[in-house]
Parts: sequence; C-alpha cells; structure tokens
Amino acid sequence: MILVTGGAGFIGSNFILDWFSQSDEVVINLDNLTYAGNLQNLTALAGDERHVFVRGDIGDSALVTKLLADYRPRAIINFAAESHVDRSILGPEAFIQTNIVGTFRLLEASHAYWRDLSETGKKDFRFLHVSTDEVYGSLTAHEPAFTEMHQYQPSSPYSASKASSDHLVNAYHRTFGLPTLITNCSNNYGPYQFPEKLMPLMIANALAGKSLPIYGDGRQVRDWLYVADHCSALRRVLEAGKTGETYNIGGWNEKTNIEIVHTLCELLQEMIGGLTSGDYLDLIIHVRDRPGHDTRYAIDARKIEHELGWRPDETFETGIRKTVRWYLDNQDWVASVQTGAYRDWIEKNYIRQRS
Ligand code: NAD
Ligand code: DAU
Repeated sequence: MILVTGGAGFIGSNFILDWFSQSDEVVINLDNLTYAGNLQNLTALAGDERHVFVRGDIGDSALVTKLLADYRPRAIINFAAESHVDRSILGPEAFIQTNIVGTFRLLEASHAYWRDLSETGKKDFRFLHVSTDEVYGSLTAHEPAFTEMHQYQPSSPYSASKASSDHLVNAYHRTFGLPTLITNCSNNYGPYQFPEKLMPLMIANALAGKSLPIYGDGRQVRDWLYVADHCSALRRVLEAGKTGETYNIGGWNEKTNIEIVHTLCELLQEMIGGLTSGDYLDLIIHVRDRPGHDTRYAIDARKIEHELGWRPDETFETGIRKTVRWYLDNQDWVASVQTGAYRDWIEKNYIRQRS
C-alpha cells in the first residue's frame, strides 16, 4: 500500500481517484482537512476498502510514526501543503508550519521507518515530494523555461516554504540515503480545485454575475497543465524515477491570465449562453497587483519526457473545455465549499486588492 498526504485537496483527490481507476493497491490518506481539504471530493470511494482515510496532521510525529508502523506502506506521496500564494501573503505562519515543519516531521518519521526495513524494503521504498515550479522564481518574457538545474529564487512566503521543503527532502537523500523523488509542477487546473484559484474563481464569479478581478495588467504568464496529466506524471515518477532526482512537470502551455479569463468567458457564452445584463467579458475588472507577483513561469519538461517517457495527454483546448463543463455540472460542490470561512477570505483578499 501507499501513504498519500493531503489526499482530500485538489490534486491529491484527483490522484487517488486516478490511482483506483488503474490499481487496487490500498491508499492510506492522511489529511487534516483544512479549508482546502474536502472529503466530498472522494464520495465516489464511500465504502471502498481500498481507501483508508485518517484525519491528522503531517506534523504530528506520533500519529505518522504509528501509521507507518501499522500499515507499512511501500511509498509516501506528500501533497499536504498550504498552497495559495495570496493566503501566504496575508498570513504566512500556517505555510511555515505545514510546508516546512510538517514536511520535516514527515521526513523524520519516514527516515526512522525506512531505516528499519529489510534491505529489499529499503531499496524499494520511495518518498515522493510534490512541489511547484514557483520555487524557481520568475522568468522574463524571453528567458528559457525552467530546467531542473535552475537556481531556486522563490518570491512569496508560499514558494519560499515549498523551496525549504525541497531542500529538506534533498538533504534527507544526501545525508541519510532516504530514497526520495521531487517533482516541480506548473499550474494545475481541472475538477475539485478550490474556488480561490484563478480558473474556478473566475467561473464561479461569472456564473454569479460578479466581477472578474484580474491582478494588475493580467499579462503574467502561467504554464497550465490539466490535473489528470499531473497525476499520470506522478505515477510515472513513482514507478520509474531515479531516487535523489528532481523532475519538472509541465504542459507546454504558456498563457497570460487575461487570455485564460477571456477563454473562460467565451466557453461559458458558448455552453450556457450570455448573462441577461450583458457579456461575461464586461465583468472583468483590474485590481491592485499581487505583491511580489511573478511575471512568468514556464516548465521545460524534456527530462521527464526523455528519461521516463511521459508527456501530457490533454491539450489546453480539451482540458479547459472539460474543466468548464465540470464546474457547470458541479455547482453544488462549489456552493458547498463556499462556506462562511470562504466568504471571509474573499472579503479580506479583495478588499486589500481594491485599496
Ligand atoms: P490544496 O490546497 O487543494 O490541498 C492541500 C491539501 O492538504 C488539503 O486537503 C489540506 O487539508 C491538506 N493539508 C494541509 N495542511 C495539512 C497538514 N498539516 N497535514 C495534513 N494535511 C494537510 O492543494 P493542491 O493544489 O491540491 O496542491 C497539492 C500539492 O501540490 C501542494 O504541495 C502544492 O504545493 C503542490 N502543487 C500544486 C500546484 C497547483 O497548481 N495547484 C502545482 C504544483 C504543485
Ligand atoms: O505554479 C504552480 C502554482 O500554481 C502552485 O504551486 C500553487 O499552489 C497554485 O496555487 C498556483 O499558484 P498561482 O499563484 O500561479 O495560482 P493562482 O490561481 O492563485 O493565480 C494564477 C494567476 O492568476 C496569478 O498570476 C495570479 C492571477 N490571479 C489570481 C487570482 C486568484 C488574478 O489575476 N486574479 C485572481 O483573483
């Protein structure tokens, strides 16, 4: 079996659903259900004995040690994190706790568990740490895309905390021989993404006839990858990645934020028709820029392609269409995560952006 952390979040839940579409190997899912964790993402697995959910913190050493001793997983895939840049600007503490301290404690418990495995168990064990392209900082318009050799230059408390966790993971490999793997992926999109992130926020706002707040001029570039492709890349790295290595994962899909929002508006218009009060595009407003806003991310994904034979299946056109369709068909899911805490966050973040 494998231990997945953060499996009730956006990518973790997609990963677990995808896992069971291809395998019967049991998944222990450790998640402390922050605002971003939602067991509704996994309702398809209700009563399925292959999925064991444990509510708890990756920083709870006693709990993690007990889980490892009881279940004896062959691999750990660490998705658990605070993941939203804007939240890290308004309140970095939780990012330091989970992304740095939590990862450190998970590594400590994993190392102690791994040290006592048989020689074969030790050789086969994997600690896969799911990280981000944001650790590399920002590119100018004409710089080449990030390779695995790019210097770490994180800009936000979020990316700095993920960069720290990557360094810790590498240190446990170099110092103790723990068989680790790190993946640095670009912006994901698709089902079950919390509606604080660009795409689901814009779709939800457009459907409600609310404004579509673009930070600054909207010319920042992100490299978009459909979440199912991220999941297939992670499976491939787990299965064939070389320990101690880093693999960049990306979709070869650089788009400006403004292009993304225009495409979403056009797809909504095509799929459900316009607003009675005008066009979705009329809802676009420009608000104050994100402090330290990275101008451009782009992933050079040639290493994972050449060494592990992975490429994304989805094109941007098919992926974004599926995504809009999913949000239209799952408006109950969106409504149910828009709790009081969600509304407080939206209020706080966008008041700052307007001032
Ligand atoms: P998310 O915020 O949707 O989910 C995070 C999950 O982790 C939630 O279920 C939350 O409850 C859980 N969690 C948080 N703190 C925890 C703790 N201390 N102990 C146990 N569980 C905890 O995030 P996501 O977008 O699914 O991202 C997952 C991982 O992938 C993160 O590590 C993130 O840095 C990385 N990543 C995300 C993207 C992206 O575009 N979303 C891209 C590249 C890498
Ligand atoms: O690159 C990978 C990263 O992608 C992950 O590590 C993060 O966990 C994930 O949240 C994402 O980070 P971004 O900051 O790029 O994603 P976000 O959806 O918050 O913003 C995407 C772009 O859209 C960014 O340039 C900021 C802009 N934006 C975002 C919001 C929420 C807006 O213009 N308006 C908004 O309201």
